Amino acid sequence: MAKVKTIYSCTECGASAAKWQGQCPGCAVWNTLVETIAEPVTNSNSRFAALGGTSKLQTLSEIEAREEDRLPTGIAEFDRALGGGLVAGGVVLIGGDPGIGKSTLLLQALAELSAGNQVLYVSGEESGQQIAMRARRLSLDTKNLKLLAEINLEKILATLQSERPQVAVIDSIQTLWSDQLSSAPGSVAQVRECAAQLTRLAKQTGITVILVGHVTKEGALAGPRVLEHIVDTVLYFEGDTHSSFRLIRAVKNRYGAVNEIGVFAMTDKGLKGVNNPSALFLSQHGQDVPGSCVLVTQEGTRPLLVEIQALVDQSHGNPRRLTVGLEAQRLAMLLAVLHRHAGVVCFDQDVFVNAVGGVKIAEPAADLAVLLAIVSSLKNKALPSKLIVFGEVGLAGEIRPAPRGQERLKEAAKLGFTRALIPEANKPKHPIDGIEVIAIRRVEEAVERLRELD
Ligand code: TYD
Ligand code: MG
Repeated sequence: MAKVKTIYSCTECGASAAKWQGQCPGCAVWNTLVETIAEPVTNSNSRFAALGGTSKLQTLSEIEAREEDRLPTGIAEFDRALGGGLVAGGVVLIGGDPGIGKSTLLLQALAELSAGNQVLYVSGEESGQQIAMRARRLSLDTKNLKLLAEINLEKILATLQSERPQVAVIDSIQTLWSDQLSSAPGSVAQVRECAAQLTRLAKQTGITVILVGHVTKEGALAGPRVLEHIVDTVLYFEGDTHSSFRLIRAVKNRYGAVNEIGVFAMTDKGLKGVNNPSALFLSQHGQDVPGSCVLVTQEGTRPLLVEIQALVDQSHGNPRRLTVGLEAQRLAMLLAVLHRHAGVVCFDQDVFVNAVGGVKIAEPAADLAVLLAIVSSLKNKALPSKLIVFGEVGLAGEIRPAPRGQERLKEAAKLGFTRALIPEANKPKHPIDGIEVIAIRRVEEAVERLRELD
């Protein structure tokens, strides 16, 4: 194939240069020039023409809105995160740390799918032999599972065109390279180009493409999140590689709800779905310990009970604030609120906060639990046993309600918790069996009520 002309264009302003340079000639920002294929503007047969589809002007009501047909993968928790299953022509990106189980899950899903569908597993990371070994270890039925060990994009596209599988997995997008670009595999230019070409093919042919993407140290998908807006669905794998539990979280889904999670346990027979995960993230202490507070968080439609642990310790030098699984900025804010409104002083203390089990909690309803865990650790006094907490804390010291309070309370009651310290606005109209509700309005009130309970 003749070499296509490439240029360097700025990811910030779109200006282009013939050669790479450190600073963009257009907007003067550094390190934003990325190799791209130079495309004549007049070419109507452009490589991306199919991405646009037909463009007839019409009203929304004229368009037939039909539910997309779903192809269930046969792995219930995966389908849940996908919003019911795969969609023909949909492009799914699965991100996660190395070794978390992306390849394992997709191999299991393809094996299930291969019973009634044409599937293709493209591996750029492992050899056919390694994958076959893994499939054998997982006792998967792989008679109809086709494998292609390849990293050249053009060859992969040609194979997809001729084989026309219903579902294709690309493991991983960072190993692919297109011979149109001279950048190295894994560079922003290559990742973007390969994903765009695969997406174009998926839309043209109706093949469902699942891309595996590695996450860089900073937690973003390599290729500055360039993939996230190209694809239809973005799923992230979370979990502590030291524990066996894994979460799949949808962060973007053009075909369903986001923030629905799938929960798995990694076993010696691969990933197994956990249907009833609400008690998974509670550490099993024999007795109540200071610095531990149980939060009911809501993930999609499911409430999850997560233990929040805090350790407050005399600081030597600059006090440290560290969070695992929670937002660090928010911790600083909570400590300020705690000081100003409840008079609890932590400025000479190191504060560490951890969400047990490697879950990441983004919702502000975790605030109150973090705050009470800190108070408990500081006073070296365990919180009352069988207590759950949720609620957002405002800068004025007010406790704001959390969405779906009733469901959270019911789940906690189901798991044997008997007391709930929650925002006034979340107080249920009718009492919930087995759980005593302590409704509060302000931070100082929360700290005060803790002293009375035991
Ligand atoms: P893998 O799917 O290769 O991760 P990724 O593709 O996200 O990099 O996951 C491999 C890890 O999972 C590896 O550390 C071993 C573990 N594992 C099990 O515990 N049980 C199993 O049955 C398999 C296949 C892997
Ligand atoms: Mg892998």
